[in-house]
Amino acid sequence: MSKSKKRSWAEPYKIKMVEPVRITQPEERERALKEAGYNTFLLRSDDVYIDLLTDSGTSAMSDRQWAGLMMGDESYAGSSNFYHLEDAIRKYYGYKHIVPTHQGRAAEHIISQILINEGDYVPGNMYFTTTRLHQELAGGTFVDVIIDEAHDPENEHPFKADIDLNKLEDLIKDKGADRIPYVCVATTVNMAGGQPISMKNLKEVRALTQKYGIPIIHDMTRVAENAFFIKDREDGYSHLSIAEIVKEICSLTDGATMSAKKDALVNIGGFLAVNDEELFDKARNMVVVYEGLHTYGGMAGRDMEALAIGIKESVEYDHIRARVGQVQYLGDKLIDMGVPVVRPIGSHGVFLDAKKILPHLTQDQLPAQSLAAAIYLDSGVRAMERGIVSSGRNRVTGEHNYPNLEMVRLTVPRRVYTQAHMDVVAESVEAVFHEADKISGLRFVYEPEYLRFFQSRFEII
Ligand code: F0G
Repeated sequence: MSKSKKRSWAEPYKIKMVEPVRITQPEERERALKEAGYNTFLLRSDDVYIDLLTDSGTSAMSDRQWAGLMMGDESYAGSSNFYHLEDAIRKYYGYKHIVPTHQGRAAEHIISQILINEGDYVPGNMYFTTTRLHQELAGGTFVDVIIDEAHDPENEHPFKADIDLNKLEDLIKDKGADRIPYVCVATTVNMAGGQPISMKNLKEVRALTQKYGIPIIHDMTRVAENAFFIKDREDGYSHLSIAEIVKEICSLTDGATMSAKKDALVNIGGFLAVNDEELFDKARNMVVVYEGLHTYGGMAGRDMEALAIGIKESVEYDHIRARVGQVQYLGDKLIDMGVPVVRPIGSHGVFLDAKKILPHLTQDQLPAQSLAAAIYLDSGVRAMERGIVSSGRNRVTGEHNYPNLEMVRLTVPRRVYTQAHMDVVAESVEAVFHEADKISGLRFVYEPEYLRFFQSRFEII
């Protein structure tokens, strides 16, 4: 046997409890999809076989986390679990002060309301739906300063979440540093396909913004996944641990919003973290208006305990390698099948290129929404749209935004599905891809004002 033979890796856990899933029949799925107005967000989970809608709050907790739930201290004020969470955040992320929230968007709401004034501009490495909406509701205008490569699904750039320093500096010079309350830097960019930012670029962004006195607020929802890519791809980082890289990333920023439902392996929870005392004071005061007392925010004591444990587990190398490895496995399989996907494969899901798969549809005919519906019909696999529907309307003109990336996201929950599930998913996508010319477009029949992708209804054109 040759010495260089590639050895397989496996998940660093074994399964202790199972949740049965139901394989549905085609007629059932047709009825369920119609009732859901062709929006996978409106399906009942009972009608879903393999659920790749999102990696948010859908991950499996460890036995340690479940044990942590039993240690819940449900005191209204000063719960011991809050202090465990505060310790974990200080130890693993390095931020000084924390305000727990029920999930990420609540932290976005608080920071946006405190820092953004009417007429401000908030640059970011591509938008995220809830983040941008909270910036807009606070009177700001989001400005995309990500590198152009991020908008090209085929470009193999290893760090597609990098910020274009020229775009950022031009904006600062054009609008003035006093009109830019902060730069929002996301570690892995969801809407670009789960793509990472490099440490080198983050350091350059830090140097540039410090020159103008502009702070960086970090959307750290998937920071450990980003750290894995830095370790794997960036010169000078292979010998560092995931924990060390995560901490270095956080040290280059002034505060963070966190949806703990992703990286940090809990079903609900989040926080706002800041280093500045005055900012902390304002945030701690505001959280009592919208969430709850500052030592629980929007979380039960038991949930804060599970989160403190989840943070520690999220930066363990074997965990993150298997997590990203499973997504890569699905992506590589689809690439081998010839299905157009966003390259390189990201960390939390595989993004199908709906414009390429459905070239007969215009973007107004909602190709990604239509493709997600077709995949569900084929196999009961639930994916979601990340294209024109998610992108919403321009706040000023009321016109649709037309993003270059029109994608279906197959999002993989952490520690939930096996490789065999990934095989079933890939085979379903392949089958739909080969019959893609038969897929019709969709049109809106109902569209809510905010975050329309969650609740819109559609009909077949
Ligand atoms: N930031 C990023 C990068 C996210 O992916 C999400 C949520 C949030 C912020 C908001 O956090 O949901 O806890 O309020 N993403 C989910 C998804 C919804 O499916 O991508 P939240």
